Amino acid sequence: MSEQLRLSAPVVMGVEGLCADELRRAGFADVTAEDGRVFFAGDLTEAARANLWLRTAERVQILLGRFPAGSFEELFEGVRALPLEALIPADGAFPVKGHSVKSRLVSVPDCQRIIKKAAAVRLGGVYGRNELPETGARYQLHFTLIRDVCSLYLDTSGEPLHKRGYRAESTLAPISETLAAAMVMMSRRRGDRPMIDPMCGSGTIAVEAALMAGNRAPGLARRFALERFAGFDRAAFARLKTEARESETAFEGEIFASDVDPEAAELARSNAEKAGVGDRILVSVGDLRQVRYPDSGVVITNPPYGERIGDRDESRRLFAFLGRVTAARELGAVIISPDTELEKAFGRKADKKRKIYNGMIRCDLYCFRPNRLLKKA
Ligand SMILES: C[S@@+](CC[C@H](N)C(=O)[O-])C[C@H]1O[C@@H](n2cnc3c(N)ncnc32)[C@H](O)[C@@H]1O
Repeated sequence: MSEQLRLSAPVVMGVEGLCADELRRAGFADVTAEDGRVFFAGDLTEAARANLWLRTAERVQILLGRFPAGSFEELFEGVRALPLEALIPADGAFPVKGHSVKSRLVSVPDCQRIIKKAAAVRLGGVYGRNELPETGARYQLHFTLIRDVCSLYLDTSGEPLHKRGYRAESTLAPISETLAAAMVMMSRRRGDRPMIDPMCGSGTIAVEAALMAGNRAPGLARRFALERFAGFDRAAFARLKTEARESETAFEGEIFASDVDPEAAELARSNAEKAGVGDRILVSVGDLRQVRYPDSGVVITNPPYGERIGDRDESRRLFAFLGRVTAARELGAVIISPDTELEKAFGRKADKKRKIYNGMIRCDLYCFRPNRLLKKA
C-alpha cells in the first residue's frame, strides 16, 4: 500500500518540538506540530518506519478525518462520510476509544457508541453486510473531541511505543522511556561524551542514552499493530529492520548509572542487559554525593519528587550538590522536577526550561549547559 496518509504521533505535552526534530532528521515529509501531537506524511511502510525509530512519540496513528462535531448527529455523519474501507477490511475488528476536551459532547461512552455505529454503517454498506464479523486483525480507532472538532485516528502501534520490551515491571517510580529519550535529546549529548544518572532507579535514562548513542532503533525488539493490517508490505518492513540492525554503531562515551538503593541498581543492570546495552552502562550503588563524576559530559536525572517538607529539603540539598559538582567540572545537567525552586537550590538559572507532564505531575525540564559554554557566552 503506497497511498499517502496523514500520519500523526501523539506526544507528551512539551515534547512536540523534539519529536518534530526526530521526524525531520529521519527524512519524514510535511512535519507540523500542534499541542500534544506531531503530523507528518507517508504510507503504511513509512508508518512502520516511524514506529520502529521514533523515541519520543507515544504512538503512530493515521488521521482518518477531522470535522466539526457539536452534536451526535454531526459526529455520526462525520464518521460515516469517511472512506474507512480504504484501510479496514470486511473482517477487521474496529474498537473505539477516545476523549473529549472542552466540547459539548462530554460523554465518552456515548461518543464511542455513535462512532462505532457510524463506522459499522459505513463499512457494512460498502461490504454489503448487515453484520460485520470483526474476526480479523484489530484496527483500533481513537477519537479526540477538542473544542467541538472531532479527529478520528487509526492506531498503528498497538502497545504504546514507550513499551520497548526491555523494562521489567517494578515498584519504583520509573520515568517513561519516551520522556527519558526526550531528556537525553534535550541534553544534546554526543555519543562520544560521558553521561551520568546518579539517581538511576530502574536505569531508563541510561538505557535510552545507550540506545541513542548506538543508533539502535527503539522498536526493534517488539511488534506493531500495523504488521497485521491488510496490504501491509511485510517484505519492505523486514528490509527496514535489517537496515536498522546494520545501521547500529559503536560509541565511545561512557554511561554511568548509580542509585543509593541496591535493588534499584540491580534492576538497572538487568534492564540494561535486556535492552542489549548491559556492556555499555557502568552501574554502581551509592549516594549521589559519594559517587565519582566524569570531568565532562552531562548529568541527566529524574530525582524523587518529595512532597513532604523534609523530603523537599533533602531533595534541595541534592540539587545544591549537583549544582556545585557540575559547576566545578565541564558538566551540563538535565533534570525533571515539579520543584519550582530548583534553580535557586541548584545555584544558577537554567539555560532552557520546558513545561512537561510526567504522568499526571506537572514538572519542568531544566537544562543547564556546561559551565565552559556559559562563560564563553
Ligand atoms: C524517581 S526515581 C528514578 C526513576 C528512574 N528515572 C527510572 O526510570 O526508574 C528516584 C531514584 O532516586 C534514588 N535516590 C534518592 N535519593 C538518592 C540519593 N541521595 N543518592 C542516590 N540516589 C538517590 C531513589 O532510590 C530512586 O531510585
